[in-house]
Amino acid sequence: MTQSLTIRRPDDWHLHLRDGAMLRAVLPETARHFARAIIMPNLVPPVVTSADAAAYRDRIMDAMPEGADFTPLMTLYLTEDTDPDDLAAAHDSGLITSVKLYPAGATTNSASGVKDFDKVRPVLERMAEIGCPLCVHGEVTDREIDIFDREAVFIDRVLDPIRRTTPGLRVIMEHITTRNGADYVASAPEDLGATITVQHLMFDRNDMLVGGMRPHYYCLPILKRREHREALLAAATSGDPRYFLGTDSAPHPTHAKEAECCAAGCFTAPIALSCLAHVFEEAGALDKLEGFASLHGPAFYGLPVNDDTITLSKGDALEIPKTLPAGDHTVTVFDPGLPLNWRVA
Ligand code: DOR
Ligand code: ZN
Repeated sequence: MTQSLTIRRPDDWHLHLRDGAMLRAVLPETARHFARAIIMPNLVPPVVTSADAAAYRDRIMDAMPEGADFTPLMTLYLTEDTDPDDLAAAHDSGLITSVKLYPAGATTNSASGVKDFDKVRPVLERMAEIGCPLCVHGEVTDREIDIFDREAVFIDRVLDPIRRTTPGLRVIMEHITTRNGADYVASAPEDLGATITVQHLMFDRNDMLVGGMRPHYYCLPILKRREHREALLAAATSGDPRYFLGTDSAPHPTHAKEAECCAAGCFTAPIALSCLAHVFEEAGALDKLEGFASLHGPAFYGLPVNDDTITLSKGDALEIPKTLPAGDHTVTVFDPGLPLNWRVA
């Protein structure tokens, strides 16, 4: 039985760090284990220009714990007013790694997102030309569409048309949550990849809703039926390089989660790798964990893999703090409700 596993140091290809006190609270949790992360731009106000991205990167570097070896990979938030020249300059200089598309209203702080996809076509064409990848929150926002169907409908109505009209654009479907998402990636050429979160590999909607509603399991896209979780797990453990880890760790103050209208997002950063080792071991696929967490993401983004390694070892169950202090508030750590025996040594 495997008790210890050494892998290349992983990266997180989808992460929310926020700003201010929350940034200082959560950054060490990611920097401890991960070498790099794609930093989501959905601040209030969002990170829309190269100047915004440079200033946000500086704030992240200021919040970096002593001795940490962590590189934030910055993104821009795509709006209908994004300036293609500003975007191209930010990409050429290495300031940004990708651009994020939020359909307006799809999720937390997405009000400035895209309503009319035709309006961003020139920017997408420029991105294809310069090789800047597009990270996509793939859900339609139409009230007529059931929340559990929003990803599948987005693929047909929005994503597939964008990919057809913008050849050469590299696209990452962020946090896929359905068999439809996994199958769409599998059927596409290598210019389409997908990130998968830890919670979508471990849980389905029953875990969130049966026996009482668990707000800390609520995120967007929402947890789906079990068959979808099984399809995601099969994709993540398949060794196919187009699937890679993006935790979507998304901290909110505890009071905003445990509220009449609960904020979407699971704060998984502190336990992400322990959960991942647990779920890959259960699937009999520990040998595929390094690819998913450490190799496929850099390959998709055209970046080198990390030189250093981490060792995961199995032992007594981890003691996980229930909350972390975050300024005047706390942030609740995602609790998978089962013993986690894998830890990063
Ligand atoms: O659950 C989510 N939380 N999904 C997102 O897309 C955004 C994120 C957040 O920023 O809290
Ligand atoms: Zn996210």
